Amino acid sequence: MAYVVTSACVKCKYTDCVEVCPVDCFYEIDEMLVIHPDECIDCGICEPECPEEAIVEEADLPDAEQAMMQFNAEQAEKANGIWERKDPLPEADEWHGDTARKRAFLSNKYGIMFG
Ligand code: SF4
Ligand code: F3S
Repeated sequence: MAYVVTSACVKCKYTDCVEVCPVDCFYEIDEMLVIHPDECIDCGICEPECPEEAIVEEADLPDAEQAMMQFNAEQAEKANGIWERKDPLPEADEWHGDTARKRAFLSNKYGIMFG
């Protein structure tokens, strides 16, 4: 089992999460972070750190976000690791909590189907 970064991270990248991960298994793509499922040790430390509540245990993923499991795995394989906090994306506050907009973005760019 692993934790998964859901669509709620899109256009945010607050990166509070990366500083607490004991095994540095966060990876960065253009518009969000992902977790490498083979590296995550399921400790749960990152979950409460995320202001968007974007980090969810695999078993607790809502139906609509199931596709994000595979997306995290695929993207983590080809992305660069991130373990130091940095400034969020400039759009972060504007996109805060806008689930529909974030999912639409991922659907348009990566073809992800949400529920
Ligand atoms: Fe890292 Fe633990 Fe979060 Fe997995 S659950 S990404 S190991 S902090
Ligand atoms: Fe994303 Fe939350 Fe980390 S918004 S960058 S998963 S703190």
